Amino acid sequence: MHDPIQKWSDEPGSSQQNRTSSRWHCALPASVRAKVWDGPTRLFHWLLVILLAISWWSHPMHMDWHRDSGLAILALIIFRCIWGFAGATTARFKHFLRGPEAIARYLGQLWNRDPVKHVGHNPLGGWSVALMLAGLSTQVVSGLFSVDIDGLESGPLSDRVDFETGRWFAVVHGLSFTFLEILIGTHLCAVSFYLLYKRTNLVTPMVSGWSRLPAHPNVHFARPVVAAAAAVFASACAWWVSTGLRW
Ligand code: HEM
Ligand code: HEM
Repeated sequence: MHDPIQKWSDEPGSSQQNRTSSRWHCALPASVRAKVWDGPTRLFHWLLVILLAISWWSHPMHMDWHRDSGLAILALIIFRCIWGFAGATTARFKHFLRGPEAIARYLGQLWNRDPVKHVGHNPLGGWSVALMLAGLSTQVVSGLFSVDIDGLESGPLSDRVDFETGRWFAVVHGLSFTFLEILIGTHLCAVSFYLLYKRTNLVTPMVSGWSRLPAHPNVHFARPVVAAAAAVFASACAWWVSTGLRW
């Protein structure tokens, strides 16, 4: 395991862990206050929640809002994909997309009621994040090509496909929303399960960025200029898509 911040939480024999506890992420004394989520990841999350609510509310009466909030979500997805490689350690895909062994180990202690302290997403949560990003991408891409039954309301790329295909995208758009609703419902159940059953509050760290941990995690944060460059690039891409990919 090369990732330094996994050591005390995931490796049964790690030296960090020996200093704090003898078991893998069990009820450790939470003594250190440490920053675990960077600002861009938190901003991404809460903007996503607001924009999804606007997309949901605005259909079918306010289609301009619907398209604009959807395009803003597209910018967020592009940003998050870049941030998965350039962001803080906890935001990186390679940190939270774990193999079957880590998932099996995590499932083995799922019903353990001791408060759990993961640095970043747990091994199962990491894959649910990937699934949510895939679901959101399907939602947005299908929306870009969708046409409604009268051909009056359409996505900015719908003129690239014929009417039948645009209608097919609209069906995918509807189905993908149902899929997203299931994912979001599961997400909220998981957060509540952690709060009520495992007595671990995951929401406050997603708001403030800080968490109480048994030992100081070795989380590295990217420079703000990298976040700014990624945000400008992502917004420019979404704007270009909104023009129908015309120069
Ligand atoms: C660029 C992004 C998006 C565009 C261009 C877009 C466009 C459209 C269009 C043209 C329709 C009408 C389809 C029809 O009446 O058959 C539609 C419907 C809909 N959109 Fe979007 N949309 C986008 C993003 C989203 C997002 C992020 C959500 C998530 C909340 C969403 C949820 C829905 C729902 C629930 C419907 C109704 C589907 C149905 O009638 O079965 N859209 N969208
Ligand atoms: C539209 C609804 C929501 C969507 C689509 C959504 C999506 C996501 C995504 C994609 C992440 C991963 C963040 C990242 O690494 O970039 C995440 C994490 C998280 N979300 Fe949400 N979220 C939603 C609503 C909420 C709400 C309402 C809450 C609080 C009550 C919440 C609490 C959290 C927490 C605590 C985490 C971090 C989990 C962890 O510690 O591993 N989410 N969410």
